[in-house]
Amino acid sequence: MTQLDELDFNTVQIDQHGPIAVLTINRPKALNALNAETLGEIAQAVDMIIEDAEVGVLIITGAGDRAFVAGADIAEFKQVQSVYDGRELALSGQDVMSRIATLPIPVIAAVNGYALGGGLELALACDIRVASTGARLGLPEVTLGLLPGFGGTQRLSRLIGAGRALDLMLTARQVRADEALAMGLVNYVADDALMKAREVAEVILKNAPIALSLVKEAVRRGLDSGLDAGLEIEADMFGLATATKDFQEGVDAFLNKRPAAFQGE
Ligand code: CAA
Repeated sequence: MTQLDELDFNTVQIDQHGPIAVLTINRPKALNALNAETLGEIAQAVDMIIEDAEVGVLIITGAGDRAFVAGADIAEFKQVQSVYDGRELALSGQDVMSRIATLPIPVIAAVNGYALGGGLELALACDIRVASTGARLGLPEVTLGLLPGFGGTQRLSRLIGAGRALDLMLTARQVRADEALAMGLVNYVADDALMKAREVAEVILKNAPIALSLVKEAVRRGLDSGLDAGLEIEADMFGLATATKDFQEGVDAFLNKRPAAFQGE
């Protein structure tokens, strides 16, 4: 099988160190803006990562020291000639973001600079966001006569509430890392976002892999359901977790006062 870091992409790079894969959006001259090629390469990379049982956490970041991702590639908007083209552009971006959001492993965005428009939407598709101290986050689409189209209207509102999300989308203002932290838009702020993301990944990797994926599924599916349906989903996921060897191992390790050795089974 092709090793993840042997994959040959033009605009995306993957580095794998043991169970941590780092996907870097690599178009620094365009502040890592997402063009069609980049979206396609992210989708391919994500599909490869799903297949790779060795990867336990994915980190997504941007190349260079200025941007995570400064949005969809505005230069390509000239190709949008009809309502149909516009809708297709949104659907293609949404598809990539949804593939990331539904990955069975935890995904961390290391937001190392501007995360604007499609860039913030990419970070919102991740499970955890770590921002560098100098990061700037926002959804400025209305300044272009657009609205967020890669999931932002939905995921931002679900994450920080409709009131705060509407403020960001209607004013198009950029928030700094400390404000983003205060409003729950990011989970951590650090001088070096990638280094901090690796630290968070190491903590996550101590836990039972199947339980991690069941947590993700319960939260994601539950958010789209009412409370009763969400609780039922939680009970289903809990039932599945109790059928794993890792559950037996976790309980045995606790009772015998030793660290658990999870196998992902
Ligand atoms: N698309 C294409 N190119 C972009 C880009 C984008 N989203 N953002 C930046 N670039 C390019 C610039 O055109 C520039 O290229 P050249 O050197 O060839 O001129 C290069 O990156 C550096 O950018 P700036 O010179 O503008 O750098 P700056 O420091 O003056 O400003 C910035 C930085 C505030 C991030 C500014 O670049 C900016 O406002 N970018 C656009 C942000 C934006 O509007 N994003 C939303 C896009 S729409 C969207 O994403 C829709 C959606 O929901 C799917």
